[in-house]
Amino acid sequence: MNNQTFTDKYYIDRNNTSSIKWSRGKQMNCLPMWIADMDFRCDDRIIDSLSDFIRYGDYGYANLPEDYYDTVIAWHKKRNHVTYQQEWFRSSKGAVDAMYQVIHALTKEKDCIMINTPLYPPFRNTILAARRRVVESKLIDTDGYFTFDYADIEKKFKEKKVKMLMLCSPHNPVGRVWKKGELEELFALCKKYKVLICSDEVHSDIIMPDQTFYPALAFKEYQDRIISIIAASKSFSLAVFSHSHIVIANEKLRNRFIAYQQFYHTGGINVCNALPTYYAYRYGEEWMDSLNNVVFENYHYIKDTLGSYLNMTSLEGSYLLFLDLGKYNDQESASQCLIDHCKILTNPGEAFSKRYNNWVRVNLATSLDNIKTAVKAITEYIEKTGK
Ligand SMILES: Cc1ncc(COP(=O)(O)O)c(C=O)c1O
Repeated sequence: MNNQTFTDKYYIDRNNTSSIKWSRGKQMNCLPMWIADMDFRCDDRIIDSLSDFIRYGDYGYANLPEDYYDTVIAWHKKRNHVTYQQEWFRSSKGAVDAMYQVIHALTKEKDCIMINTPLYPPFRNTILAARRRVVESKLIDTDGYFTFDYADIEKKFKEKKVKMLMLCSPHNPVGRVWKKGELEELFALCKKYKVLICSDEVHSDIIMPDQTFYPALAFKEYQDRIISIIAASKSFSLAVFSHSHIVIANEKLRNRFIAYQQFYHTGGINVCNALPTYYAYRYGEEWMDSLNNVVFENYHYIKDTLGSYLNMTSLEGSYLLFLDLGKYNDQESASQCLIDHCKILTNPGEAFSKRYNNWVRVNLATSLDNIKTAVKAITEYIEKTGK
């Protein structure tokens, strides 16, 4: 399906709905390009299947569809060349909830946990809420291309006796899809210093055409220290259903996690919330491919029009672009500058790391028309400054 056909069919007007993204945009009189959800509805077959379930009216205790796990496993095998086994799966009500449970179950109070910044804020907040210590290793920024600082990571692993690395793969907000060699080098350090790896892979379905995504559990040599968090919530914009999976291959580690879930009675799967994931993986492949093309086109439009003025990440995965307003920012926060001068609402860079107050995170999962509106407003502002 070409991009215009996809947009005509699936773009939805989210004004006057309960959408957090659009309500806040309206309140601030801005085009909302913040928060990580999409302005596209799901494929018709997903909506029809859910509607059939609702319409039939049997809301008693229910099993998951018999082939639920086969369907999830087949999706990841086909798209990401990783073979999960059904017994590796646990579930939780969303990816942030999963992070919190993993930290609680597999580390101790005051343990040091590493994150690579700038980073989606709940990583840090969850570690702190669980009363663990955050050890930050800054990503190296080379003109908007972010890479791990292995020397710094190793030094901190050693000095701080880090127990867990919270990896974001693909990375929010810097849009990196980590290369095989990058992950191998990182995982080898984790092995050397006995660090567990919790890999949040919720953006793994949105991968630009020239990139390959490597799921952490595909690295057999390191499988025994890996916990992956996977979900269809970002890929298909199913956040309202709060459903994700924690995948653990190592039986001992998994049993510790299961014991935690049993103790806190948190492991139960909500069938109603899992159904959209099932239908999405069954029927959503063509939709997903089209969505990827739309994001790619949006990214290129921004790169082509604003790239000569502004430094930005080279988007490899996710639909989130990290953009540096550079000399055009006349406020403490670049995000405020875009609100004041362009009527565009983005996520402030400083939310991802204090030192990124000159940056904003822009959500590209919208129509090209909205992207053009934003670009026009930014270009006019830039030209007006005369810089
Ligand atoms: C990397 C990452 N993990 C987790 C989440 C949140 O997931 P959930 O809503 O399932 O908690 C997001 C949301 O943007 C995200 O970008």
